[in-house]
Amino acid sequence: GKVAVLLGGHSAEREVSLKSGNAVLNAIQNAGIDAFGFDPKEQSLSALEDLDVSRVFIALHGRGGEDGTVQGALEYLNLPYTGSGVLGSALAMDKVRCKHLFKSAGLSTAPYEVVSASEPFDSEAIIAKLGKVMVKPSHEGSSIGMSQASNAQELDVALQEAFKYDSQVLVEQWITGREFTVSVLGDQVLPVIEMTTPRGFYDYQAKYQSTTTQYHCPAALSETETVDLQKLAKQAFDLVGANGWGRVDAMRDEAGNFYLLEVNTVPGMTEKSLVPMAAKAVGLTFEQLVVRILEQTL
Ligand code: DAL
Ligand code: MG
Repeated sequence: GKVAVLLGGHSAEREVSLKSGNAVLNAIQNAGIDAFGFDPKEQSLSALEDLDVSRVFIALHGRGGEDGTVQGALEYLNLPYTGSGVLGSALAMDKVRCKHLFKSAGLSTAPYEVVSASEPFDSEAIIAKLGKVMVKPSHEGSSIGMSQASNAQELDVALQEAFKYDSQVLVEQWITGREFTVSVLGDQVLPVIEMTTPRGFYDYQAKYQSTTTQYHCPAALSETETVDLQKLAKQAFDLVGANGWGRVDAMRDEAGNFYLLEVNTVPGMTEKSLVPMAAKAVGLTFEQLVVRILEQTL
């Protein structure tokens, strides 16, 4: 049977997913494996049953594709797929529940508050408690709907923006410092990458459009810090029940403490993305990386 590469989809990250999916599809075909792209926005997933598919590479980002929905449907169709299962996908896509998990497991993460669109909230009190914050829709990726706030008025604006995407919003204390990401491939934790941007934070534009974003791989951290961060990332990955491959984002404050941001179970896979960059640092080409991930379905 063939490999179906799921790409596109319905989420706000559709454009990124089309790029990831097409890069993955090319790599699989270049490796001599019979594969085709399949966009669940254009065709019902059940059509896979009639297309001689033996396994599926999920290159969908965000809601519907990265949150356990597609994973559940593929379980039902009896089709092996790449990456995390239903539970790990669903938990990792839920920033609020991830924070609860990190906190209860004693994994370092910034203080936070949860705000619901349907309940009253006190912006002054949140700012008084947390100081400067980052506001995030609970179930989005690629920094969509995210903004910073330093006072109650800014927080109100940031919350209204985030509520466009989600009825549940995470308000996280802003960590001043450096931003890192740690990729996981099977049992292997790959070299750490640091991202720097002259923009306020590593937002959608810094991720996909900017020419001023810089990547440092391996990151300039001491060996102890690198090991500590890799360990923290793997603990977070395992804690949410993620599997196969993924990427864990974290901050480091000026005192040198690390803070978990989130786990991504279908990280970006464009040629410029972070997991391919970390894989390259251990000698894996993009094609080899894709084949490694795909082999996990065998
Ligand atoms: N959500 C994007 C695709 C990422 O984490 O890379
Ligand atoms: Mg994400």
